[in-house]
Amino acid sequence: MSKDKNTFYLTTPIYYVNDAPHIGHAYTTTAGDVLTRWHRQKGENVWFLTGTDEHGTKVQRTAEANNVEPKVWADKLVKEAWLPVLKTINAANDDFIRTTEQRHTKGVQAFWELVKKNGAVYEGSYEGPYCVGCEEFKLPGDLIKEDGQELCPIHSKPVEMLSEKNWFFKLKNYQQPLIDHYTKNPEAIQPPSAYNEVMAFLKQGLDDISMSRSAVSWGIKLPWDEKQVVYVWFDALLNYLTAAGFGEPEDSEAGKLFKRIWPIDVNLVGKDILRFHAVYWPAMLMAAGVEVPKCVFAHGWLLVGGEKMSKTKLTGIAPSQIVDYVGADAFRYYFLSAIRFGQDGSFSWEDLTARYTAELANGLGNLASREAAMIEKYFEAIVPKPGELTAADQVLVELIKSASKEADEAILKLDFSTGINAIKSIVEAANLYVTEQEPWKIAKDEANKERLATVLYCVAETLRAIAILYHPIMPESTAKIWNILGANESIGDIAKQKIENVGNWGQLPAGSKVIKGEAIFPRLVEDEQ
Ligand code: ME8
Ligand code: MG
Repeated sequence: MSKDKNTFYLTTPIYYVNDAPHIGHAYTTTAGDVLTRWHRQKGENVWFLTGTDEHGTKVQRTAEANNVEPKVWADKLVKEAWLPVLKTINAANDDFIRTTEQRHTKGVQAFWELVKKNGAVYEGSYEGPYCVGCEEFKLPGDLIKEDGQELCPIHSKPVEMLSEKNWFFKLKNYQQPLIDHYTKNPEAIQPPSAYNEVMAFLKQGLDDISMSRSAVSWGIKLPWDEKQVVYVWFDALLNYLTAAGFGEPEDSEAGKLFKRIWPIDVNLVGKDILRFHAVYWPAMLMAAGVEVPKCVFAHGWLLVGGEKMSKTKLTGIAPSQIVDYVGADAFRYYFLSAIRFGQDGSFSWEDLTARYTAELANGLGNLASREAAMIEKYFEAIVPKPGELTAADQVLVELIKSASKEADEAILKLDFSTGINAIKSIVEAANLYVTEQEPWKIAKDEANKERLATVLYCVAETLRAIAILYHPIMPESTAKIWNILGANESIGDIAKQKIENVGNWGQLPAGSKVIKGEAIFPRLVEDEQ
């Protein structure tokens, strides 16, 4: 019953609209965008979902503080901040779901109606701590004590004590099924540190958990008890289903989508929300009889002063601040290469500037512009026909084969930094090749024209491979390199080039018309930051 192997469904968390996005949110979406673009270039049928989480106390209070209705606040934030950031980082998502949309509220009500019918919901009362920053009922072991107060370790803020009648979800029933599932499918939670954390949590034992709130009004009403709304997490998690067309008639567009893409291949999240995604969410799906995601991947945090960058703590840096300085491509490249995906990392302007200059401006940008200038100068801007390859040339041929394979294996495992390093090794080898072959010296003797042609061909052909491999990471700059090589005309659309075929040497036809353009990675103007 499972879907076609060639289909890839990836989700990001849906972000709270209590404030505008910072680079932490853009980090997750960028990673999802790079991975889905990579899968598209493997010829797969991809669905990439992101969106916004608009209900609950946190959003309601922010709206109140700004003297507007929550929906008005959410509309404003989505329009002015959350949709624009997708453009800023150049994300190519297929859908964007808002939890205030009709398709979502309808799906959430139907889902919980079904779970209740299956006997997994009952009436009870909750007494205990709640963190509004996390929108989470906290467990005794979750909190830290400071000056006689109990604080949420993520938000460093006191928790609130709740006492209310609400409806419970029989989470306890899923302890053993979850342990069994993850024992059989260890790849279902990644990285391994996340797997271990969830398994330890599961083995401690689970308690039933409130699935509704009586003291909150901004949410989706329970169909069987209109005085209560669905607990915001048990509303939000369902976005992955409702946006995918769950519960819609099989012959409708939405119904067909669901059949095609479900289950989720990668449920991409930050480690702050791992428990929701690896425990509560699959338990809910099991209760509804729906197939669980194949993998939840929890990446690390971007830190500020050693702590998680956060909207609540107002420590965020806006993505546009960085993109205005280095461009969207360098933003994407930097965050995925400088931090090992799955671990925490700190952002620094110095590190960004240094890597941009060394790896992009002097590394890749310089390679492309030197090559274009030489083909223009020595071959009237036409990619020349190569002669026989020497051992030095063969090094490039072999490296493209091995490095593209290494990059593919790493990126499919979400090890972006290893993948990018493999591609970068081709850039470095090509720059070294130019330095060692010294084409400007070969050019001095007309009798060596064929060797000159071979050297410049080898570099152009290597740039072809680099452009394709870097395309998911840096879509705009690689399109410019593609254009410089005249490859739009001689090969076709860069986005249609398959990762699998990158290593087949000789695809850039001699005769391609080289078009020198502006610098791909211009020098940075330091005071713009
Ligand atoms: O938790 N470093 O939304 P949210 C890295 N609405 N990633 C970060 C980050 C940081 N400092 N800060 C945020 C919610 N993120 C819920 C999710 S899903 C059904 C509901 C990213 O606005 C990271 O992906 O607090 C994290 O998990 C997410 O934003 C939390 O965003
Ligand atoms: Mg948060």
